[in-house]
Amino acid sequence: MTTSTSHSAALPTRTLGTPGLAVSALGLGTMGMSAFYGDSDRAESIATIHAALDAGVTLLDTGDFYGMGHNEMLINEALRTASPAARERALISVKFGSLRTVEGGFTGFDGRPLAVKNFVAYSLQRLGVDHIDIYRMARVDPDVPVEETVGAIAELVEAGHVRHIGLSEAGADTIRRAAATAPIADLQIEYALISRGIEREILPTLRELGIGVTAYGVLSRGLISGHWSADRTLAANDFRGMSPRFSGENLRHNLGLVETLRELAESKDATVAQLAIAWVLAQGEDIVPLIGARTRGRLTESLGALRVSLDADDLAAIEKAVPADSAAGERYPAAQMAYLDSEK
Ligand SMILES: NC(=O)c1ccc[n+]([C@@H]2O[C@H](COP(=O)([O-])OP(=O)(O)OC[C@H]3O[C@@H](n4cnc5c(N)ncnc54)[C@H](OP(=O)(O)O)[C@@H]3O)[C@@H](O)[C@H]2O)c1
Repeated sequence: MTTSTSHSAALPTRTLGTPGLAVSALGLGTMGMSAFYGDSDRAESIATIHAALDAGVTLLDTGDFYGMGHNEMLINEALRTASPAARERALISVKFGSLRTVEGGFTGFDGRPLAVKNFVAYSLQRLGVDHIDIYRMARVDPDVPVEETVGAIAELVEAGHVRHIGLSEAGADTIRRAAATAPIADLQIEYALISRGIEREILPTLRELGIGVTAYGVLSRGLISGHWSADRTLAANDFRGMSPRFSGENLRHNLGLVETLRELAESKDATVAQLAIAWVLAQGEDIVPLIGARTRGRLTESLGALRVSLDADDLAAIEKAVPADSAAGERYPAAQMAYLDSEK
């Protein structure tokens, strides 16, 4: 068992929503430690969570369906073995609502109020905490009005089991309806140099309503990290093996974009991953990128993005090298795109 020892440095903070929740400017997303990206090393995962907390990361993002509870139990262990100060600072964001099978299949979503209250009871137990800091439905349930799902979370806030309400991959209309029901801290949604769909309608809506963003896939799942190569062999349980952006001609095109970014990164004395994360950080103080590091090495690299400052000329050069919509391939396979309220 690894234990967290050091006492933290502070990282810059950003505030999600109004009146708001202050969190570290970069959060740690722990999904890849339990699911979707092939096998992970448990001890290294826990050491990475400890290193993040010790470095001043306060926001940990998980989902109850990441490894069917595995990820929440991993966080539980990491928090139990963290220094008391690090444990005290940790804020946990949980996604719920995804329905799974024993074999790992996805069979839909359940946003009924009764289901919400069931999901949270299991999550609190698995996490070993008495409240969740941000609770959100992983995908909008098309069969349940969002007012009912958000209303159920608002009752959990009232009861003290949850502190703030979030959304995930919701579109502008749903965001408005949710915000009319209860205060919303943030929308979690994919946002990266090559995933810029939110800029059209969703981001302006969030800004109008005073709702923050926790941005995931800022490295497009490793594709624009600068560490990907066309000959990488993927495990059968790696999501990227099914992702349109990682296949065939699309992959070759997308890796070409990465090479143009590499030149710009080198001119800033940064790595490609740091440039890509710094670009998301530069899009607004209301945006908190979630780092998907599952090793301490990747974590250290990601946190280095906070030292990369991009001025207007840098941003223009990046935009020229990788214009919006320059990626080849959708961000999810077609069946999963259909679940995205944000893409409707
Ligand atoms: N709301 C949603 O629908 C949703 C969806 C997906 C994710 N999320 C959340 O967002 C978090 C981050 O998403 P993501 O993991 O897809 O993000 P990402 O940062 O785009 O991709 C992470 C992957 O990039 C690779 N990588 C290469 N260099 C890296 C570096 N310096 N730092 C970090 N990763 C590097 C790693 O793959 P290797 O380890 O294989 O090298 C890592 O697994 C997740 O953990 C989850 O909490 C939310």
